Amino acid sequence: MQAFRASILHLLGDPTTSDEAVAFHADGLLLVEDGHVVACGDHDALRDLLGDTPVEDLSGKLITPGFIDTHIHFPQVDIIAAHGAQLLDWLEQHTFPAEAAFADPAHAAETAEFFVRELLRNGTTTALVFGSVHKGSVEALFRVAQARDMRLIAGKSLMDRHAPEGLTDTVESSRADMESLIADWHGKGRLGYAVTPRFAISCSEAQLTMAGEVLAAHPGVWMQTHLSENPREIAETAALFPEAADYLDVYDRFGLLGPRSVFAHCVHLQGEAFQRLADSGGAVAFCPTSNLFLGSGLFPLETACAHGVKVGIGTDVGAGTSFSILHTLGEAYKVGQLRGSALDPFHALYLATLGGARALDLGDRIGNLAPGKEADFLVLDLAATPLLARRLAGDRSLENRLFALTVLGDDRVVERTYLAGVEQHRR
Ligand code: GUN
Ligand code: ZN
Repeated sequence: MQAFRASILHLLGDPTTSDEAVAFHADGLLLVEDGHVVACGDHDALRDLLGDTPVEDLSGKLITPGFIDTHIHFPQVDIIAAHGAQLLDWLEQHTFPAEAAFADPAHAAETAEFFVRELLRNGTTTALVFGSVHKGSVEALFRVAQARDMRLIAGKSLMDRHAPEGLTDTVESSRADMESLIADWHGKGRLGYAVTPRFAISCSEAQLTMAGEVLAAHPGVWMQTHLSENPREIAETAALFPEAADYLDVYDRFGLLGPRSVFAHCVHLQGEAFQRLADSGGAVAFCPTSNLFLGSGLFPLETACAHGVKVGIGTDVGAGTSFSILHTLGEAYKVGQLRGSALDPFHALYLATLGGARALDLGDRIGNLAPGKEADFLVLDLAATPLLARRLAGDRSLENRLFALTVLGDDRVVERTYLAGVEQHRR
């Protein structure tokens, strides 16, 4: 058994609907065995469970669950922070050329190493990831995640139209690639496969039909795509699918809407669609840095929550501008400010942990440090920068301190990252 003594903060439920959701132990103890949490609580209440287990004293640090990134693109690492365009032009000018390079397995392997290391450096212990159109990009990523026993879900992008030569697949090639990736990787260790139609514009009706068939044939497999991000994208989608009632309906008609479906953005979605999303058990990945960077718009988090939609946080690198979920929470707050709806700090932490886990339909396995959960956790240094140290020392309120951490914090705060009880990153 391993034992860690530090302050511990995690969420046992949704703080917007429960008064008992926040669990904070100023002098806490976390007990871990075989990759799972054995116990988590006040040190004095749990010390009898220790036996002769040595305690790692991390007093002054804060232990939290690992962060969950519900939307990120592995093959876009090298075009993060590309200047000047909104979504459709950005895809043409920057994204598609970068993704074309993933036809090369050596490039995919090298980038996968960097990508996973960067996730861990930022405290992200689970991610739902877009690969490129190439099967090999997803294999490269799964290999690296598997070696670290990371809980990671990924899929190859489906795109059989409206993309450059050399970056498209076909209905039959993409069906074969997915069947083989699912057979080889889904459920292996902590890996999962996600059927990944890039977005409606890039997939023919035949390909979306096939995607729905593959999803139906493999219960437990996830679905991820983009939804209602940019006004031009929305208009083009409506023109391509005139029979659909709205953008969400395009996916629903092909059987792509369910409890393991995660839709990135949903910036311009209307109330009725949010209700349909909630009823289906599907989730939204809220990607504030991306929505601001591409000028896509301001996600109506309060509307989504009012309808009971599951929401997680996504960095959406490379349209998103940071791997840091902490930083992304600070930007989520600013989006709320522009909408006249301030994001509560505990709600923010929920979105990044248990809320993200629930968005991925993994709330029973990850997202907090309740006994039996997989031991994916972080040791945070609240004095990582002089400014943070000064700001946090001057404030006794947990809520205020957490808020300042999301506004001022980033990868520098993440001192250690543990996957299934094993240290995978140390600053
Ligand atoms: N819509 C379709 N593809 C993409 C992508 O790569 N990034 C974002 N932000 N939106 C998309
Ligand atoms: Zn995206």
